[in-house]
Formats: sequence, C-alpha cells, structure tokens
Amino acid sequence: MTNTPSLPTNPVFVALDTPDLDRAVALAHAVRGHVGGVKTGLEFFSANGADGVRAIVDLGLPVFLDLKFHDIPNTVAGAIRAVAGLGAAVVNVHASGGPAMLDAARDAAESVGGTSRPLVIAVTVLTSMDDGDLSAVGQTPPAEEQVVRLAQLTQNHGLDGVVCSPAEIEPIRAACGPEFKLIVPGIRPDWAASGDQKRITTPRQARDRGADMLVIGRPITGADDPAAAAARIAEELGVSA
Ligand code: C5P
Repeated sequence: MTNTPSLPTNPVFVALDTPDLDRAVALAHAVRGHVGGVKTGLEFFSANGADGVRAIVDLGLPVFLDLKFHDIPNTVAGAIRAVAGLGAAVVNVHASGGPAMLDAARDAAESVGGTSRPLVIAVTVLTSMDDGDLSAVGQTPPAEEQVVRLAQLTQNHGLDGVVCSPAEIEPIRAACGPEFKLIVPGIRPDWAASGDQKRITTPRQARDRGADMLVIGRPITGADDPAAAAARIAEELGVSA
C-alpha cells in the first residue's frame, strides 16, 4: 500500500482483554509512557462498541482494533472505513477471506488517505488450529505451509502485514521480505508466568527474530504494578514510548 503509516518506536501493544471500559481505560492510562500502543478486541468491542473505542483512542495511544473482519468484500470495506473513522491505527481481516476481500480492505483503507489511514494486517491461520482442525475445514495441512501461503497472498494484495506466532516469524520473513509487518503475540518475559500460551518467546527474542510489533497481555495487565511491568519490558528492549 502507498504511504505506509510508521509504527511507534516502542513495539509493545498491550492487550486490554476485558469487557470493562473503566478497567481498560485505567490500564491504558497506567502504562502510557512505557508502551507503543494498546490492543482491544472482540470482547471489548462487543461490550462497549464504538464509544468504547473512542474512549481508548482519546487517551492518545495508537489503538490496534483486533476485530478480524471476514465477510463479503463490500461489507469488509464498509467496516474498515468505519473503524478508520474511529481513529484505529491498526485493523485486521482474515486472509482466508480471499483476494477480492483483501483488495476491498486495502482500497477502503487507502480511501481514508495518506499516513492517517490505518495499517491493515491479516490473520493467516488461527494459532488455535492444528493440522487436524485444518483438515476438518477442508484445508490441506501442514499449518505452516498454509500460514506462508496466506502471508504471501496478503502481501500480493497490498496489505501491510500479518499477525503470526513467534515460531512463524522466520518462515514468513523469508517468504515476504523485510518490509512486511509482523505482529506477534505469545510473548512472555522470562520473569512472567506463561499462562495458557505454549510456544512463547521473550520480547527480546521476538524482536531479534524480526517482529515489528509485540502484543503482550497478562505479563503487563496481570502484574501487581502494570506500569512497572511495562517499563521493565521497555527497558529490556532498549526503547521508550
Ligand atoms: O495475555 P497474553 O499476552 O497471552 O495476550 C495475548 C493477546 O494476543 C490476546 O489478546 C490474544 O487473544 C492475542 N492473540 C494470541 N495469539 C494469537 C492471536 C492473538 O495470543 N495467535
């Protein structure tokens, strides 16, 4: 896409995984100054809608609105224009929506114009899907081949990048080159509990492998002092907000 908006110097986006608007605002407020942005998703949006997103955007941090659109091209285009209007800095779609849907998402973002458009990212294969799940929905495993295929499709249709697991950074980087943005969850500092995340890396390892953005939730939001946890991660990465 033309006029790619730049990402913040601090690559950490905190996942505000809560339906509670007051808690989300308090967390975002606490960590600002130590992170590059925040991520809100379906749970938050379903509970708080556009007004909730505006309340987070109004705090002045870049917002990754993780709604994973997957619908017919015309509907996805309208949804992208709507969330761009809310001020989201990063939005996403499912790459498996196919070529026409990806084109519609790209064109809708470009119609917003210049560097004020959101970055448009695709989800390849949900990391909750294994090879058996792929077969069950009629897709040919192994999952990693499907991930790389969908990342290349995303790139060929002019989107900015993909969300991927730490284990997928290197194969996608090899296939899609240095400019393609890789947004990576499944990050755990070595001083944090792993929780339900299985294949994890530290923030530093993910950065060194080539991640552009790190999505980190519970190591920050579940810490006794979220601001201190975010500051510690920023320090380990050698960045400030
Ligand atoms: O708390 P934690 O750091 O595990 O949060 C990670 C965030 O990234 C959550 O919002 C989760 O839904 C999201 N995510 C993920 N794995 C993916 C895609 C998104 O953990 N493959």
